[in-house]
Amino acid sequence: MKSIFVTGTGTGVGKTVVACALSAYFSIRRGLNVGVMKPVETGWDPDFSDGLMLKKASGSEDVIDDIVPYRFRLPAAPEVAATYELREIDLGILTNVYQKLLSRHDLLIVEGAGGILVPIKDGFFFSDLARIWNMYTLVISENKLGTINHTLLTCHYLLSQNIKVLGVILNNKEQNPDPSSESNPSILKKYLPVPLLGVFPSVRLFYEDPSFRESLAEVLEKSIDSGFFSLDLFVS
Ligand SMILES: Nc1ncnc2c1ncn2[C@@H]1O[C@H](COP(=O)(O)OP(=O)(O)OP(=O)(O)O)[C@@H](O)[C@H]1O
Ligand SMILES: [Mg+2]
Repeated sequence: MKSIFVTGTGTGVGKTVVACALSAYFSIRRGLNVGVMKPVETGWDPDFSDGLMLKKASGSEDVIDDIVPYRFRLPAAPEVAATYELREIDLGILTNVYQKLLSRHDLLIVEGAGGILVPIKDGFFFSDLARIWNMYTLVISENKLGTINHTLLTCHYLLSQNIKVLGVILNNKEQNPDPSSESNPSILKKYLPVPLLGVFPSVRLFYEDPSFRESLAEVLEKSIDSGFFSLDLFVS
């Protein structure tokens, strides 16, 4: 597998945190040359950017203009943020950058914005991007009340659009989650039409910390060792 599209059940569910952990793990522990891309980042803040976090976690030497080709200050869906700035997102430009990064790396991890039905431009959604770039999608959902519905809806929609789904990662975003977090993994396993790859633990990580990359790789490695995670599908 050459590229993975990290999507989620919505905004703030942990796509960046999990994508960073995967990038760090595959580069440090598996020796892959990992590239990262966030095609469109809205709510852009250079001090707190998904793109820069992904760059740091992966060790990618690509410039930020390639990692995040389109950056908008308004925290809104890409179509809305671009319209607000009277700019247009050019899919040809995005695809050229994607192809360039793909050719430079063993594995390219691409993060969406929000969920799969977020519009990038008029009538064109992240699901369309995943399909035209022929990417395997990875669905991140937060392990909390409501996740069964959100996760099943997202996965069924992806499959209905003939988009390949690698599986789901349930993210324990909160240190003290609500009681549903205990039963969510087993009930999702029962109903999901795709594999539940693992439960990502709650972490305390600081982007500025010099050990950020290593700590992320370690978190994922420990989860794999304790049987909470399987990444076998990724490297097949
Ligand atoms: N496993 C976790 N442990 C601790 N904090 C977490 C975890 N996952 C996510 N968070 C925190 O939750 C917030 C949202 O996570 P993140 O930025 O990864 O979400 P996202 O899905 O990438 O959002 P967006 O749609 O804005 O890209 C961040 O402050 C992040 O640090
Ligand atoms: Mg993010």
